[in-house]
Amino acid sequence: MYIKGNTFIVTGGGSGLGLSTAQQLLKLEANVIDLKDDGKSFFKGREKNVLFIQADITSEEEITKVIQQAIEKFGENIRGVINCGGIAGVGRIVGPNGKPLDLDSFKLVVNVNLIGTFNVCRLVAAQMVKQKPLEEGERGVIINVSSIAYQDGQTGQVAYSASKGGVASMTLPMTRDLSKFGIRVVTVAPGPFETPMISIMNEKSRQKLLKQAEFPVRPGKSDGEFNKLVIHLIENIYMNAEIIRIDGGIRLGKL
Ligand SMILES: NC(=O)c1ccc[n+]([C@@H]2O[C@H](COP(=O)([O-])OP(=O)(O)OC[C@H]3O[C@@H](n4cnc5c(N)ncnc54)[C@H](O)[C@@H]3O)[C@@H](O)[C@H]2O)c1
Repeated sequence: MYIKGNTFIVTGGGSGLGLSTAQQLLKLEANVIDLKDDGKSFFKGREKNVLFIQADITSEEEITKVIQQAIEKFGENIRGVINCGGIAGVGRIVGPNGKPLDLDSFKLVVNVNLIGTFNVCRLVAAQMVKQKPLEEGERGVIINVSSIAYQDGQTGQVAYSASKGGVASMTLPMTRDLSKFGIRVVTVAPGPFETPMISIMNEKSRQKLLKQAEFPVRPGKSDGEFNKLVIHLIENIYMNAEIIRIDGGIRLGKL
């Protein structure tokens, strides 16, 4: 699919992986719906091609409005969504104090990362289905962001891994549901990337984690590594139903 002139919704566009994706899409002359929950816009002066909207990915009402506003500004050509919105969550099933993990903290992580991602997918997909197809009948692409924690979850990641496992597992059935409309679904499962999300990690855990990398032994770069993969996935029509790890070869055992 050509990127230029088409509209892409990027959730979590306020920082990290989402921000670098939105920036790259803009460089390639897409229209970008920059969706986030923190109210900051990094795209002042680019209002011709960017629509900044503050919205919560878990809200049906807010995401429906995002889609309506996107169409009002750029027309019925929403061709993709890149779901980078998400939160971390740390807590063992039974904590050092002997208490079970608080159910609300588990629900919060699953609600944002899994249910929020699904909410955006279903509403955007329903819009893409109505749009005119492009070359080869393609109508659009959904790119979801899981994590290597969907396979290699560590102590304290029970909620996060469950949420990211859900995102990964949706890939094939969602593809099967949407293929007759020419909509592709691909999931990216990143290893550690240098973003605000991993800055919460202490240096010791960070070093332990990076030691597991094969090559290069460093965190990934949002700009030039993550966002390049996303652009490739948008442009390459033969990429579908796939879950792709991007992680410098990291395979995490017990840390
Ligand atoms: N950075 C990493 O090492 C790494 C590794 C694997 C997976 N991931 C995943 O990649 C995605 C992006 O992470 P990042 O590192 O860029 O993190 P980040 O914290 O920099 O960005 C996350 C973004 O999501 C937004 N967000 C959170 N909850 C939201 C909600 N309810 N509604 C709308 N927006 C919301 C935040 O405002 C923020 O802009 C996340 O899903 C994360 O789990 C990150």
